[in-house]
Amino acid sequence: MKTPHSISEYHDIYRESITHPEKFWAEIADSFRWKKKWDKVLEWDFNKPEVKWFTGGKLNITENCIDRHLPDKANHTAILWEPNDPNTPARKITYKELHEQVCRVANMLKAHGVKKGDRVCIYLPMVPEAAYAMLGCARIGAIHSVVFAGFSSGSLIDRINDSHCKLVLTADGAFRGDKKIDLKGIVNNAVEKCPSVEKIIVLERTKTPVDMKPGRDLWWHDEMAKVSDTCAAEEMDAEDMLFILYTSGSTGKPKGMVHTCGGYMVYCDYTFRTVFQYKPGQLFWCTADVGWITGHSYIVYGPLSAGATTLIFEGVPSWPDMGRFWHVIEKHQVNIFYTAPTAIRSLQTASIDFVNKHDLSSLQVLGSVGEPINEEAWHWYDKNIGKEKCPIVDTWWQTETGGIMISPIAHVTKLKPAFATLPLPGVQPAIMDEHGNIMTGNGIEGRLAMQFPWPSIARTIYGDHQRYKDTYFSTFRGKYFSGDGCKRDEDGYYRITGRVDDIIIVSGHNMGTAEIESAINEHSAVAESAVVGFPHHLKGQGIYAFVICYEKPREEEKLRNEIKETVAKIIGPIAKPDKIQFVNGLPKTRSGKIMRRILRKVAEGELSNLGDTTTLLDPNVVEEIKKGAH
Ligand code: WTA
Repeated sequence: MKTPHSISEYHDIYRESITHPEKFWAEIADSFRWKKKWDKVLEWDFNKPEVKWFTGGKLNITENCIDRHLPDKANHTAILWEPNDPNTPARKITYKELHEQVCRVANMLKAHGVKKGDRVCIYLPMVPEAAYAMLGCARIGAIHSVVFAGFSSGSLIDRINDSHCKLVLTADGAFRGDKKIDLKGIVNNAVEKCPSVEKIIVLERTKTPVDMKPGRDLWWHDEMAKVSDTCAAEEMDAEDMLFILYTSGSTGKPKGMVHTCGGYMVYCDYTFRTVFQYKPGQLFWCTADVGWITGHSYIVYGPLSAGATTLIFEGVPSWPDMGRFWHVIEKHQVNIFYTAPTAIRSLQTASIDFVNKHDLSSLQVLGSVGEPINEEAWHWYDKNIGKEKCPIVDTWWQTETGGIMISPIAHVTKLKPAFATLPLPGVQPAIMDEHGNIMTGNGIEGRLAMQFPWPSIARTIYGDHQRYKDTYFSTFRGKYFSGDGCKRDEDGYYRITGRVDDIIIVSGHNMGTAEIESAINEHSAVAESAVVGFPHHLKGQGIYAFVICYEKPREEEKLRNEIKETVAKIIGPIAKPDKIQFVNGLPKTRSGKIMRRILRKVAEGELSNLGDTTTLLDPNVVEEIKKGAH
């Protein structure tokens, strides 16, 4: 494998990877199990846009994640599951058991009419069955669309309908700390508006009484018991769809990012081994939810493809107390720990005793993902969790990129707090100026683009290739635009500065401002709204909503709560605005475009420096907004 073990090796491998990318990736891809070798490594044209890797190659990702490990690792733990309640015993699932369970899910899906190419929605808590479900789909070539179980029925409806899912895999409920979430109730509400759904298979988890509709709803345990535990892996083309995963966009509608089998597998596996310098026998824990790309790539596909042991955690960091993460690390002797800055910041506010009463000496590598990590959180993580002995890999990537793109390599790259540092082999970033030119040299700041494809780039937006083109390939000709701002310092190190579009990152979750606005506007008192992000000490960014009502609100606080609940109901609790300011008007240009730049400044509290307001239709609205700012 072309994994560097020193910085000079990194530079050599990097150079080779960009001089002969096809040769580089072909050599990596050679180590996987292919049913038929590819004809061509890469075909691409960012202007179309079109990207194809390993064309003509045939494979099944589950054979690479499971079957190929069976000769040596049948009895090794593939998944270590830590339940929500610390008093419930953890569960170890060996590679052999994983094989059986995945085959059963595959057969269960087939028994209910799911075929290659059909879409299956997965709406499950963080239980091993979520991984079985994903891999069970992949086994038969069904396309999974995992929806984060914190989303409400409105979000579920949009996602199921966009890709016409035929079947939903869910649970009676989910445990989250001391709360129970009524997953089946949410699904029941949703599917009333989802004509494509024929069957719902329900895992028993919380034993909450649920409504089961005869003929449509089935119990997971009944169906799994009826089918065999072996199932031949469907032969998939390298470019067949593996999954769809929705991410927020600048317009209200979420984008169904499409990932394909071959390139995604190769890239997830390679980046997992390289960035974390994974060694056989180590226990890897990524705290993300499987409903996000981080969970897809670094809980399920990457670690399992590498034959690792991956920890799946059902609970939350703050229950039963703020030491739960550290307790789990000690209990299971976790070696590599990969989490989000928002979690670090919130745990940092708790007493240090929660950390210090646990032995964290098993840790060797720490990771961060999802948003820029501020220096203070970085140092706290380094000192208190890593005891200044563990490298922190600050990994920059996106749902669209499928895997980590810019990141230190553990024990190899010299670290710099809050810097994602250097591109991984095969990754060719460019920093662009506002005129669309590549900025050369160091000590620069602009927008982050990619000049060359990597194997796990999303191939399209499900059902909307034009939007894929408009969103990612139209800003800079012939390049993939990430939507992020970026600096390159004097050492050539990359630092991501945050989104430059209408997406805000709240506790590491992407939220489109348009999506939140349209949810707010569903409240009958609301005429119009505009949402922007503002710096939030725990969440990274918070949600600030400017709201125009039809009539002046009589009880502002009550209305604020109602609006928050409306948003929670339509999108999910994560999208609730932190601040709501009622206004009579919004700063608009003569062409009717909201000038968010001004609203952002107000939300940030920078009232004295709003920039040029002369192009506004009515500059007076700004004065009024300034007066009412929180
Ligand atoms: C942000 C998550 C700074 C970035 C894997 C990106 C980061 C968006 C980092 C993608 C990081 C992710 N440093 N910013 N290490 N990692 N981001 O699709 O703005 O949920 O565009 O993928 O998160 O979020 P997504």
